[in-house]
Amino acid sequence: MIRSRVIGTGAYVPPRILSNHDLEKMVKTSDEWIATRTGIKERHIADEESATDIAVKAAKKAVESASLSADEIDLIIVATVTSDMVFPSTACFVQSRLGIKKNIPAFDISAACSGFLYGLDIADKYIKNGAAKKVLVAGVDVFSRIIDWNDRNTCVLFGDGAGAVVLSAERGNRGLLSSHLHSNGDHWRLLYTPSNIYSSPFKTHSRVHSHKHDEPYLKMEGNKVFKLAVQAMGETCQEALEHNDLKPADVTFLIPHQANIRIINATAEKTGISAEKVYINVDRYGNTSAGSIPIALDELAHSGRLKSGDILLMAAFGGGLTWASAVVRW
Ligand code: COA
Repeated sequence: MIRSRVIGTGAYVPPRILSNHDLEKMVKTSDEWIATRTGIKERHIADEESATDIAVKAAKKAVESASLSADEIDLIIVATVTSDMVFPSTACFVQSRLGIKKNIPAFDISAACSGFLYGLDIADKYIKNGAAKKVLVAGVDVFSRIIDWNDRNTCVLFGDGAGAVVLSAERGNRGLLSSHLHSNGDHWRLLYTPSNIYSSPFKTHSRVHSHKHDEPYLKMEGNKVFKLAVQAMGETCQEALEHNDLKPADVTFLIPHQANIRIINATAEKTGISAEKVYINVDRYGNTSAGSIPIALDELAHSGRLKSGDILLMAAFGGGLTWASAVVRW
């Protein structure tokens, strides 16, 4: 059977660190509040760099670690909701900046924090039906550009970063075993960022949204998102295990979306996965949205802690609402 095996990983976060103590000087908050409620101690913020700049750095590392030349890639998928431009896609910029001269397909997908797992799922379908053999999947977000830095409810939670993998079509048992995608658009108001595209310059009446939605910043009902995230991540982990006839004890590492240590711990507990098997870096990066899982996967891959045959369970949750899980045999 043809599977999508991860043959390379890469990640990049911008160098500037914004600590909880830095945030104490910007909004009414404290290191103690942020650390105990979220597990976050610091996050990286892009100054000069854009989503494309960050994604390209992660992508180059992934291609290098796969020992490929960029021209061997035959599909690029970038998960992001903070692309440099409305169009072209970040994926097209990545193709150009990697110097790929073949006219391969390249496109972005929008599934917020679940975006990387959505990308993995799509890439796998291209590979399984023979349409692609080597696929670059990147997740990147620069939420620092869509955060209201005066809003302590949201500005302490997010950071910027990117991660990428190269998937290769291979026969055998290693690779992506399954992926499970979900969404519920009825809950969109719990987590969203408006844009001015919504407003027609010709239409002055009968607006569906009220004017308060027009500020171009991330809005979130944190408490409701928290509860739904715990429920959805737990359920999708469960379905991923059942689909593959795996028990929690079979999982080598749980790699959850890094939004909040309390969501991560509750997901692990619901799924029956012990604490030492849960990969955590939310303390260093905060929530990097689509970058979160591939950054964690890259760190784990380069830590020397993974061996062939290990079972990785990944789960994410984000705006949409969207949520997803995937199981990889390393
Ligand atoms: N510093 C200090 N106090 C803060 C604060 C901050 N940065 N942010 C909020 N507070 C205050 C609130 O104003 C509230 O005060 P009040 O009781 O006087 O009204 C109090 O802390 C408790 O707020 P609450 O929202 O109940 O806290 P919480 O325990 O639910 O934690 C979140 C808030 C945002 C950390 C939590 O709800 C969360 O993580 N939600 C999910 C967010 C997320 O991961 N989103 C992305 C999903 S991909």
